[in-house]
Amino acid sequence: MAAWIWVLSILSYSCFTCALRHKTSDSFTSKTELSHLAVNHETGTVYLGAMNFLYQLTKDLKPYPSIGDVTTGPHNDNKMCTPPIDESQCTEAKLTDNYNKILLLDTLEKKIVICGSLFKGICSIRELENISNRTYYENGSGEKSFVASNDENVATVGLITSLEKGRMMFVGKGNGVSDNGIIISTRQLFNKEGREIFELYADPAVIKSAYPSSSTQEFLYIFEDNRYVYFIFNEHLKQPLKNRTIIARLCKEDEHYHSYFEMDLECKDKSGPYNQCNAVYAAAPGQILLDSITLSRQDDIAPSEKILIALFQRINKDKNSLESALCMFSLRQINQKMEEKREKCYKRSGLGVFYKPFVADSVLCNSKTHQVFLANPAKEYGGGVFEKNQAIKKDLVLDALQEHLYLMTANKVFRLPVQECDIYYTCDQCINAQDPYCGWCVTEGKSIVQDPFDKLYRLFSLADQSNSQIPEVDISWK
Ligand SMILES: *[C@@H]1O[C@H](CO)[C@@H](O)[C@H](O)[C@H]1NC(C)=O
Ligand SMILES: *[C@@H]1O[C@H](CO)[C@@H](O)[C@H](O)[C@H]1NC(C)=O
Ligand SMILES: *[C@@H]1O[C@H](CO)[C@@H](O)[C@H](O)[C@H]1NC(C)=O
Ligand SMILES: *[C@@H]1O[C@H](CO)[C@@H](O)[C@H](O)[C@H]1NC(C)=O
Repeated sequence: MAAWIWVLSILSYSCFTCALRHKTSDSFTSKTELSHLAVNHETGTVYLGAMNFLYQLTKDLKPYPSIGDVTTGPHNDNKMCTPPIDESQCTEAKLTDNYNKILLLDTLEKKIVICGSLFKGICSIRELENISNRTYYENGSGEKSFVASNDENVATVGLITSLEKGRMMFVGKGNGVSDNGIIISTRQLFNKEGREIFELYADPAVIKSAYPSSSTQEFLYIFEDNRYVYFIFNEHLKQPLKNRTIIARLCKEDEHYHSYFEMDLECKDKSGPYNQCNAVYAAAPGQILLDSITLSRQDDIAPSEKILIALFQRINKDKNSLESALCMFSLRQINQKMEEKREKCYKRSGLGVFYKPFVADSVLCNSKTHQVFLANPAKEYGGGVFEKNQAIKKDLVLDALQEHLYLMTANKVFRLPVQECDIYYTCDQCINAQDPYCGWCVTEGKSIVQDPFDKLYRLFSLADQSNSQIPEVDISWK
């Protein structure tokens, strides 16, 4: 078996209302719509990126003493104009909101990298301890400083890491209508060798959209493992009308991008593929999950080996309903497959070789049905429902001790104690409680979580899939 899969049937697809207990939860309300959340695991400080605002909060979501909210917009701008905006040159400029596209903590350098949708997606650097203190901002550098997508609807993902040359930021973004065509790039976070901060660290360190007018990308996830960095995105092709999910891999130190390689990721069952990926997360599975997977599969996977869990969906035209599945892919097998394909590619270059996508085929492992439970309709219980009809945003983060979960709706952040789930002892109790936060039953008869990976499952179960707001979890696992 080339790949293995563990499909979870999702009982109720349309979780329009997710009821979450709030007995002991802290919360914070943003003035505007939130887009990113990050937690500094060394200090517990929480950072939020919202439309026109940035926030720095204590771990229990109180505004940081003596550090005000930061205003990032609105400013006069037009997507077609090159910053800095000169109103005599850019007559179409008008007051435009600044959507936060990237919010990345660099705890090593004690910096925070912020990119917004304004001014062609240029970025700034701020102090980690004081987000009000902007230490780098350059709006007159032109094309080389355009990092994020300037389209509020086009997702951008980023990752900060150390290369031999220094601190770098890998960026993946869809190609918006008035964007520069770049979808993947490596940006340096230092001034050196005549190159500025946020400039490409080498001229070839960039991938442009191959068919900018006939395809769009939706970046979902970026992560690093050993010497590689991986990007996962959906590609929507206009002609022929087709959606595919791609995993792209790049050697981190390869400034020429020769090692860049793309492969389709496919999740399917007997009735065919699920053609839209909503969320991906890479992690080492841990023993509990591994036991339940390997029961039925020959694949030998070590608890420390990374796997990708990806939530996919498709529209079932016959039933006129959305269906979703969780597929898991072993990163080792993905790498193997990429090597095989690359070999073939080199040997038969120019012959137009077609490759089958890397498929996680077939369905359930063993006879147990593992289910993701989404409360629908929401029931009020305990402390009551705290947000009705609110989608949960992608950035879900656990605190350093994995005792609390930070979760966002459109303009509210909550901090929820993870342990409360432990009050449910059986799978039935867990489901009957109608608590999506505790809705996960990983091993039969247990909703108790001892393994960080189990928590992740529950995070997935929190998602409001009707809005594609599926958690993209940002946690470092051991
Ligand atoms: C460009 O940046 C400078 C320095 O931060 C600032 O004073 C100026 O207002 C900016 N110009 C525009 C048009 O954004
Ligand atoms: C944070 O930085 C801002 C702007 O640089 C400054 O005005 C403020 O005093 C600083 N706050 C603290 C607590 O250092
Ligand atoms: C802002 O950060 C810089 C760099 O760390 C520091 O030198 C400066 O004193 C800070 N400014 C304020 C107002 O805190
Ligand atoms: C492709 O994805 C887009 C955006 O999610 C969706 O609107 C469209 O229906 C999908 N097309 C196909 C052929 O599945």
